[in-house]
Amino acid sequence: AHKIILDTDPGIDDAMAIFFAFQSPDIEVLGLTTVFGNVPVEMSARNAVTLCDLAGQDIPVTKGVGMPWVGPESTYAHFVHGADGFGEIDFPASDKPLDPRSSAQFIVDTVRANPGEVTIVAIGPLGNLALALRLDPELPKLVKGVKIMGGAAFVRGNVTPVAEANIWNDAYAADIVFSADWDLTMFGLDVTNNVPFDPSFMDTLADKNEKLGGFVQKSAQFYTDFYSQNREDRVCFFHDAFPLAYMIDESLFEITEGYARVSTDPLNRGQTSVAPEGTTASPLWLDAKKIKVATGVDHARLTQLFIDTYAL
Ligand code: BDR
Ligand code: CA
Repeated sequence: AHKIILDTDPGIDDAMAIFFAFQSPDIEVLGLTTVFGNVPVEMSARNAVTLCDLAGQDIPVTKGVGMPWVGPESTYAHFVHGADGFGEIDFPASDKPLDPRSSAQFIVDTVRANPGEVTIVAIGPLGNLALALRLDPELPKLVKGVKIMGGAAFVRGNVTPVAEANIWNDAYAADIVFSADWDLTMFGLDVTNNVPFDPSFMDTLADKNEKLGGFVQKSAQFYTDFYSQNREDRVCFFHDAFPLAYMIDESLFEITEGYARVSTDPLNRGQTSVAPEGTTASPLWLDAKKIKVATGVDHARLTQLFIDTYAL
């Protein structure tokens, strides 16, 4: 099984992704590291503990970065994920203690203890990863890879015309992460916005797995209300599960490579600019590192993988 650290800001699609990782025999979750994003970091950490408790997973959960590296405190996404981050379902919070380390310290310690074996899967803003890189500059040599949900390479953003929420939330940190010398694969809106999930999908998850699928089904009602505001149909998007699905079955995705940077300029804050494969790098792009970008996904097989894995 792939050893991963899951860096997260739960969050409804985070919860769906975390359970998906727990359920998969191909993934071993070494710990959940939390960050501000959808909700403040205290709530993000507490929510992560609650999800572990519900799933019967006794793994470390850490609290991490609570603010963007540059810029004012976040406004959070309660309008998407609810006041509790779980779609206002009144779910009782676990009171299990957190691991006392910071998220960045946990990342460094865990990667050092398993050199060459750990993939960091980041499904929130990237402040913890940027801080881990500062704590241990050798980190890129020691991790197996980094997979993120974030960005919009060749499509529009979701919080501004050019920026996706995770990257926008901590653009300065994201550019540090994109510019580090490690194997980074980005699963952005290019793929996640192409796969809508309707209430019958939620019903199937709940049917296959009453406890975890049932939680997702309940939470997803608020989340679906949000997404439905601007569309005719009733659907939502489980962005955060995509990098995990890739780890389980790479054949689900089309991947391209390109030199990438994240804009820290206020006007274009959080824009992920990717020079597509074959583009001659301009002198201005000399600092950009090559990353992998998911550009296509098999909708039907991905949906089936979620259902089959929740059913295990
Ligand atoms: C991302 O932003 C958050 O609201 C979701 O949890 C996901 O990580 C999608 O843009
Ligand atoms: Ca998230």
